[in-house]
Amino acid sequence: MTVQAVEKIWVDVAAVDEFVPNGGRAVLLEEKQIAIFNFNLTEWYATANQCPHKQQNLLSRGLIGNQCDLRKVACPLHKHTFDLETGEHLGGNPEWVLETFEIKVEDGRVYLAV
Ligand code: FES
Repeated sequence: MTVQAVEKIWVDVAAVDEFVPNGGRAVLLEEKQIAIFNFNLTEWYATANQCPHKQQNLLSRGLIGNQCDLRKVACPLHKHTFDLETGEHLGGNPEWVLETFEIKVEDGRVYLAV
């Protein structure tokens, strides 16, 4: 069996200037809502905007912060928290996994990998 490397395609989704420091914002990527979060406009995360708890598109309006060494987001509806790196539910429910996406910033633009 041959393993083939799959080349990432980076899609330009927004300008860094469109984000406020230490917050989130939703963008559309191929008709899917993606929540993009930043810490001080220097550290970036991307997840599905849809909360795994009740499938509501609102995570981009959640509060971000730290839990131990983890970066997290708290859903604004019922306050469940998720690891921004892995999407894991920090309350321990293995069925509530938040989809995460690779993200990068170059020349003032924010890109997501598809
Ligand atoms: S909808 Fe997000 S915690 Fe309930």
